[in-house]
Parts: sequence; structure tokens; C-alpha cells
Amino acid sequence: MTIKINQLHPCFVAEFADVDLSKPIDDATFKEIVEGMDRHAVGVFHGPTLTEEQHADYAERFGPLDPNNGILSTGLKRRISPRLADIANLDHENEKFAKDSRRRMFNLGNQLWHTDSTFKKIPAMYSLLHAHSVAPEGGETQFCDMRAAYDALSQKMKDRIENLVAEHSIFTSRMKLGFTEFSEEERALHPPTRRGLVRVHPGSGRKGLYLASHASHIYGMPVADGKMLLMDLMEHATQREFVHTHHWKVGDLVIWDNRCTMHRARPFDDLAFKRDMRRATVQDLNYPEITVADEKVA
Ligand code: OGA
Ligand code: MN
Repeated sequence: MTIKINQLHPCFVAEFADVDLSKPIDDATFKEIVEGMDRHAVGVFHGPTLTEEQHADYAERFGPLDPNNGILSTGLKRRISPRLADIANLDHENEKFAKDSRRRMFNLGNQLWHTDSTFKKIPAMYSLLHAHSVAPEGGETQFCDMRAAYDALSQKMKDRIENLVAEHSIFTSRMKLGFTEFSEEERALHPPTRRGLVRVHPGSGRKGLYLASHASHIYGMPVADGKMLLMDLMEHATQREFVHTHHWKVGDLVIWDNRCTMHRARPFDDLAFKRDMRRATVQDLNYPEITVADEKVA
């Protein structure tokens, strides 16, 4: 079968128009999807709504799933399958989070530009986000193309950043929203990680920027210089020409390649409407251990 692929943005993002993920996908079709993903980095599939098992099983064909689908640890009752991450604004009884709830504060961090799980020991390769219910207004997801953004840098900047390494932590992005109330147990579970600013995308051989709001500073550089450089690169990568907005419909499943894109959720009236999104996350097992010559921050 040759599947129909419609590119939705001049740089990236493909709609896999006629693939029904609730039906078995043969190996030849799956190979076409992988090749399409290597080229386009974000893949959009339309309904029908999948069961949690169908969703997780499909994701698992791309590689092992992240077994840890909760960051906030202590005593939270799950609403959905442990194979999936709960991205909804709903508690275990399917009620909307209260305005001041801790989980609501935490989830607001998804509205900052980021790449999934750069703060985990094993980062995310693919994320597969599936819409069970959507908000009537807002709640879009935006993506930016980190390979196109890299290509557009000056040679001088490419040379400058080639070997730079940033420190990433989930607490860095949450602190940006003023959310600092984490237990010692939660902090201990998520020590900082190191991520090179530039990486080669294996499926395409192209270089891309690798950034997220989880990045705080750059090793071997004064903190303020590193923060400034990170801010400049984030601003560069999220210019309109590199950004695509996905408007969700129930049953949509969007896959993105975290090795060469960033994304963010857009706001919606989460106190009034339910937005039920669930995510399967495929681990980036080949991410190399990064060593830095100069651990200390000047
Ligand atoms: C995610 C995420 C954005 C959204 O699932 O990793 O960042 O629009 N979601 O919900
Ligand atoms: Mn995310």
C-alpha cells in the first residue's frame, strides 16, 4: 500500500490521510510511516478514537515506551492506563482540575516551548498524542522545525554552538511559571541531565537544534551568557516561518519526533472545558551519554 501524504507546512508536518490506526497496519505501510516521519517530523492521523491499548500498541511498534508516566509522584490516583501519560485537565474522577491545583500548575508548563523528556535520563524519541475530547476554542498544539531553524543559522552561530552542552531539568521549566513546590522525593527522582545544543537526526542525517524550556544554562559559560544564548536560540527557532499549529478534532493522533522538533500547548479555558488528551511516549534509547570537559559554570 502506498499511503497518501499531504505536507501541511512548507518545512515539515505531514498528514497521513487515509490510514486508520484502529485497523492492523502491515509492515510495508508501517515502513512508509517511519520514512514519512523521518522526512516530515510531525505526522497527523485522523480518527476514529483508539482504545488505550490500540494507542499504546501502535506506539510500541516504534520502540519501547517510557515506563514512567507521572512526574508528580506522591499518592496520585491515575485516571488512565499506566502505559500512557495523562495530558488532560482532569483528575481520576474525570473532574476538571481546580484553579489552584498542583497538577494544573504543573501541566501549564506544557504551554512553554519544549521537547519531551529532555530532563529524563532517557529522553523521548516519538510522542503520540491522541485527542479523546477537545476544547471548543483554544487548546491547539504548535510545533516548530528544529532542522529548518538550524539550517537558517549563520555559519558563525553554527560553529559557536556545535559542541555546547546545556543542563536540563523539569524544575527549570516549572520555575519559569513560579511553580517551585516539589517534594524532596520528586526532586531526587529527576536529577539534571546534559544535552548537546546540536544533534544529528538519524533518519535524515540533518542537523537540528535540541532545546527546551527545561534548559537552564550552558556548561563552561557564565550563567547569564548561557541563558541569553538559550533565549536567543529559542526565539530564533520559534519564528513564525518554522511553526505549524495543529487544531485538534476528536480522534486525531499526532506523532512528533522530539529529536528535531519542539512543541507547546496553547491556552484554553481549562476551568470551563474538558480537554482529554493522552500521550504514548517512545524512548530515545540511542541518545548518547554526554560528557563535558568543564563541569563548572563560570
Ligand atoms: C505533550 C504536550 C501539548 C498539548 O503531550 O507532551 O506537550 O497541546 N502536549 O497538550
Ligand atoms: Mn510535551
